[in-house]
Amino acid sequence: MVITRAANIPVASEGQCTVTLFVNGRGFPWLCEEFAMRIDIVCPLPAAIESCISTGIVGRGRERGLVEIVLHNLHDFADNRYGHIDDEPYGGGAGMVIRCEPVFACIESLQRERSYDEVIYLTPDGERFTQAVANELSLAQNLILLAGRYKGVDQRVRDLLVTRELSIGDYVLSGGELAAAVIVDAIVRLLPGAMSDAESALDDSFQDGLLSAPVYTRPAVFRGMEVPPILRSGDHAAIRRWRYEQALARTKERRPDLLNSLPSEQ
Ligand code: ADE
Repeated sequence: MVITRAANIPVASEGQCTVTLFVNGRGFPWLCEEFAMRIDIVCPLPAAIESCISTGIVGRGRERGLVEIVLHNLHDFADNRYGHIDDEPYGGGAGMVIRCEPVFACIESLQRERSYDEVIYLTPDGERFTQAVANELSLAQNLILLAGRYKGVDQRVRDLLVTRELSIGDYVLSGGELAAAVIVDAIVRLLPGAMSDAESALDDSFQDGLLSAPVYTRPAVFRGMEVPPILRSGDHAAIRRWRYEQALARTKERRPDLLNSLPSEQ
């Protein structure tokens, strides 16, 4: 059994949604009670994320009550009156390490209030964050995202508190806050009701393991370049076929590695 994607799709009846699991390319919709997701972001620099969670689809999702996102400043949990949350690394070396005490104080206080599906630490040495991971996390009820700065967090935080570690790519950011914002965005846009046209989430690059086909809008001819006539033909079956062929060709050219993980039925 190959689960290729899971997506939340809103249905008309108030208070319920369907969660569609795609298994070997076939969709199986499940009717669920609607739930608001909660995401707690624990970090040293919440200001770095504020605008990302207050605007666009994420901001609208919060306004609509689809998701509650709460920022926690690690400095508020410092165990000293200077608000220091970091210290020098044992064994020497450059950079500072975030201490255990503020992270444990913050996350354990959250865990006393509710149970969490995952405590996710953002780090370049984590598992690669992909659309499949976004789909999976969009089905969670409560998530904690822990973002570090400096040289990262004390290993004991990772050993005892963290349940999953994610990287958004093979490069090093100055802090995990932007990685947390990326992950929140990718999750929230999948929540039922977050997008005006929920179907478009399913057409995204990566949702079928393929990159997206090219898209066009008016005018039909711009600087001598014409929109492919098939897209204006009104023949929906032919358009679907054309888009699939274009997506396949683009994926072969730009990301041939993705084709190896396509389910065999596709
Ligand atoms: N923190 C710093 N760089 C990161 C990355 N690439 N992914 C996730 N968290 C990070």
